[in-house]
Amino acid sequence: MKDRKEFKQGRRTALRASLALGAAAAALPAAPAMAQRGRTLERAPLGATAEEKRVLSVLDDVYRNHRYLSVPEEDGRLLRLLADSAGAKQVVEVGTSTGYSGLWLLLALARTGGRLTTYEVDRGRHDMARHNFERAGLLGHATLVLGDAHAEVTKLKGPLDLVFLDADKEGYPDYLQKLAPLVRPGGLIVAHNMASPPPDPRYVEAVTTNPAYDTVFLNMHAAGVGVTLKKR
Ligand SMILES: C[S@@+](CC[C@H](N)C(=O)[O-])C[C@H]1O[C@@H](n2cnc3c(N)ncnc32)[C@H](O)[C@@H]1O
Repeated sequence: MKDRKEFKQGRRTALRASLALGAAAAALPAAPAMAQRGRTLERAPLGATAEEKRVLSVLDDVYRNHRYLSVPEEDGRLLRLLADSAGAKQVVEVGTSTGYSGLWLLLALARTGGRLTTYEVDRGRHDMARHNFERAGLLGHATLVLGDAHAEVTKLKGPLDLVFLDADKEGYPDYLQKLAPLVRPGGLIVAHNMASPPPDPRYVEAVTTNPAYDTVFLNMHAAGVGVTLKKR
């Protein structure tokens, strides 16, 4: 009997505390950038220089008006962060589309003095990406290749610092087989759509069971990104 009373009292206290917290949250000033980004604490990316501001405004325009199956903004920012922190000089992207993820990578490569080679099979999207890189002032850091990446990547030479896979999903095992040998020890293989659409299990198996790699999966609440370190 006593237990039941204490339990009821405890529930009432918890309810009062949660109502108080709700009221306090409602009293906070509105934070539009945070609200836009859902449950995360991130805010909109901020340009520190005129060049960065220009690229960010092109990115915004591409995302709003010209995207085609592009990565979400949070994955684009992750790509930039990975490429910049790795000091990447040679980056390969499979699946250019209209250049949204490429622009994020180029933002890093403009700082590291590096180069992006990106592959697209569709001429319209390839041309649009070129236009987007140009108006962002970053075309000088990019090589855009039009064609089937399964054949085209065999012409590449290493060492590569970072590879980003974002084309035909069932093609990832083949891209991994062809590109991983070119990735330098300590380099990264980043794969998009590890949560949605469901990834090719052969790719997941290849990057999670080989002791030469260490793989983590990020942003899995959205499309999902696999980040694989090719160990030194
Ligand atoms: C998901 S979209 C890429 C999105 C891009 N990474 C972005 O975030 O802006 C995939 C692209 O890969 C291209 N693609 C599919 N198979 C390909 C192949 N075998 N070779 C080259 N590109 C291919 C498609 O035409 C499509 O534009």
